[in-house]
Amino acid sequence: MKRVQLAAAPEGPTSEHQLILSDKAGISRLSSWLTDAEMVYVEQAVARDAHRYFFIRPEGKMLVVHVLKAQSDPRFALEEARLAGNEMLRDLRLHKIEDFTLYNACENNRSLAYAEGMALGSYQFLKYYSHPEKKEKALRTIRFNTSAASAAEVLELHIVLEAVFLARDMVNEPHSHFNAHHLSEVVRDSAYRYGFSAEILDKDKIENLNMGGLLAVSRASSAPPKFCILEWKPADARNAKPLVLVGKGVVYDTGGLSLKPTEGMDYMKCDMAGAATVIGIFTAAARNRLPVHLVGLIPASDNLIGSNAILPGDVIRMHSGTTVEVLNTDAEGRLLLADALHYAKQYKPGLVLDLATLTGAAVRALGNQVICYMGTAGDDVKKDLEQSGWNTYERMVELPLWKEFGDDLKSNIADLRNVGSGNAGMITAGKFLEHFTDYPWLHLDIAGPAYLRTANGYRTKDGTGVGVRLLYDFLKNYATN
Ligand code: BES
Ligand code: ZN
Ligand code: ZN
Repeated sequence: MKRVQLAAAPEGPTSEHQLILSDKAGISRLSSWLTDAEMVYVEQAVARDAHRYFFIRPEGKMLVVHVLKAQSDPRFALEEARLAGNEMLRDLRLHKIEDFTLYNACENNRSLAYAEGMALGSYQFLKYYSHPEKKEKALRTIRFNTSAASAAEVLELHIVLEAVFLARDMVNEPHSHFNAHHLSEVVRDSAYRYGFSAEILDKDKIENLNMGGLLAVSRASSAPPKFCILEWKPADARNAKPLVLVGKGVVYDTGGLSLKPTEGMDYMKCDMAGAATVIGIFTAAARNRLPVHLVGLIPASDNLIGSNAILPGDVIRMHSGTTVEVLNTDAEGRLLLADALHYAKQYKPGLVLDLATLTGAAVRALGNQVICYMGTAGDDVKKDLEQSGWNTYERMVELPLWKEFGDDLKSNIADLRNVGSGNAGMITAGKFLEHFTDYPWLHLDIAGPAYLRTANGYRTKDGTGVGVRLLYDFLKNYATN
């Protein structure tokens, strides 16, 4: 199964299919490609609100013209181009066009976003079919003429998209083929291939570090937990204090003895989406050589049932020394994240971001279009992150972390309990995590947008890889400002 490649087109005339992107303001530029009669046709069709045209050229090559609709609010301009690219994908599949060269004839060049939407929409996960070729709707190569984008821009986008696909792949892998060991192997392989460093702590080391949260979650599993430490430290890093990314790596969440019902459990292979995103970001940051010092921490385990499982009511001692009364074994993510957040303190980080499919409450309150976030980092960081949310259309909304929400976490037997009273569950989860931080920190609950049961535009069904494009954009600006 081949994934789409984005590449710069060679100079000079091409013998491939051509796709010309235009908009109403740029429509006269189409005369470089179209005959007078074709120009008249397109002008009339645009007036009737038709936007995609296919012209046959010698040797069966196609000249495809897409006139983008007039853009509405500038905040939606790039997203409209991505969605238009995804719509064109359907037409290209009908015409069996798998390779083409993209040209820009727009007043406002949005070629990269257009190709991004098309490429993201073309993703398929077919490896477990006996005959994947029968299901494959291939899009092989998008070549960019220099009018559309520079070679450097194309390569950068190609790498970011590969990172999204890697994150989607990991989320889509079923638990039968992807446990904590497999996850740590992806970390190791990616580190080796792309030149960041990785250290995988096995169960003995995790025990020596007294990571009681991670160990409690993994107790019923026959596959040992892993704690992955990633680092990208380029010589030209602009941040003196590292930025730490923490990803929830629950490779399957049955809920433990607080067992989930089948209809909530059936897609819980997605519960390592935070970890997948962190790994994806490291590949993109290292391959594109972002000048920013990054550390990644991934506590990885499944959350299973068994005679050795942690019981509701048990008390555990965390890596930080804090004791926690575990009243609900399904609130496991915060246990292993808490150990990772405490571990992060030794780096004296300038900023810590954690990504986690943490609560059903976030999904119920906000659905799958938005990442809800909360935390103690400064307003400038929050503003930049929200701006990256708009840039990439992985939008963010902030929830309050007022101290009163923490009252819910008082235990009458230990320092904390792991669940609140039931209301505002995404915030009590955040309050729990906050307890283990002493640095500027933001928690991103991606439970809503990380996994879709049906496709939504170019966000294909199942794992979306949400957070990779968002944080790549954020890091790029973090590095340059
Ligand atoms: N992994 C789930 C959260 C989740 C729900 C992720 C839906 C993706 C989609 C998490 O571990 C969990 O089960 N949380 C519980 C916490 C509760 C017991 C306090 C929840 O949200 O129901
Ligand atoms: Zn759970
Ligand atoms: Zn979970």
